[in-house]
Amino acid sequence: MSQVNSQIWTEKKDDLRLLKMELREVLITRRIPEPGMAMISRECKIRLWDEDRPIPREKLLEMAKGVSGIVCMLTDRIDAVAMDSAGAGLKVIATMAVGFDNIDINEATRRGIVVGNTPGVLTDATADLTWALMLSLGRRIVEGDRMMRKRGFTGWSPTLLLGADFAGKTLGIIGMGRIGTAVAKRASGFRMRVIYFDPNQLSPEKEKELNARSVSLLDLLKESDFVCLHCPLSKDTFHLIGEKELGMMKKSAYLINVSRGAVIDEKALVSALVNGKIAGAALDVYEQEPELSAGLAELDNVVLVPHIGSASIDTRNQMAVMTAQNLIAGLAGELPPFCVNPQAMSKG
Ligand code: GLV
Ligand code: GLV
Repeated sequence: MSQVNSQIWTEKKDDLRLLKMELREVLITRRIPEPGMAMISRECKIRLWDEDRPIPREKLLEMAKGVSGIVCMLTDRIDAVAMDSAGAGLKVIATMAVGFDNIDINEATRRGIVVGNTPGVLTDATADLTWALMLSLGRRIVEGDRMMRKRGFTGWSPTLLLGADFAGKTLGIIGMGRIGTAVAKRASGFRMRVIYFDPNQLSPEKEKELNARSVSLLDLLKESDFVCLHCPLSKDTFHLIGEKELGMMKKSAYLINVSRGAVIDEKALVSALVNGKIAGAALDVYEQEPELSAGLAELDNVVLVPHIGSASIDTRNQMAVMTAQNLIAGLAGELPPFCVNPQAMSKG
């Protein structure tokens, strides 16, 4: 090929690629770990909100205009208005989370937009955090740390910071999906008894393997020494744990939430903690995230962490890759490998 010809050919190829990229413009609402960014930048033209805080609503609406795909975070509300902003060319929404309560799935399905999430890869990390919180709360690790830093430790004491036992106690798991199951698996090492509440009962074989018994929500609340929440947030689980439910728990029991804040009526929780209705709570998630209900931060019998359930290096890298895979498949008109609304494909 002559040099001139090859030059023209190269330009044509670049034009084609550019054309293809125009079609594949995507919004990423927050910089995700590099393996995911790299995959997406090879395939798409990226509009990125590159600040170290969630994208403000009006920016999201503005930056979504005309994109074919959106990579969103659990902090972004992706509703009909956001989908309207993107317009009719929007084919896929890929959230870098397992929970997708922030996305209007029915609306996406109606419009033939596939929605991808990241189940599985974060199960162990999230179950680990649940145990870290349970142990910190029960054994008063954070109170002890605060005491040490204030130079409040004056020497060993037979009655200093006495906490809870785990062996022989009952762990109640609300929501026995992947994460609930992984939490239950870890319980045998601590020699705890496991009961669970989930509308989908496990098979007898699975119950046997986990040594877990299905009970009603009422029995779970009455019998458990530790109650862990691992259900998704939906209209059925909104305020699942309110004043009445907290009142049914043992005064010596602890509540741990690594699911979504609004599963608990947080005001009712603060009042139960203040009034000694339960012994303590450990929270990774909040009803008005990132705000805390009044009074919560002043309590000693709570452990509070900033929504870090899946925050391990490997897990977040894997979540970023899965998010990119979901996005790229959706843009190509294929079923994303992890799709929460496959029925949207028949509408597309
Ligand atoms: C985190 O909360 C998630 O849903 O991935
Ligand atoms: C979420 O990953 C669950 O099924 O628990």
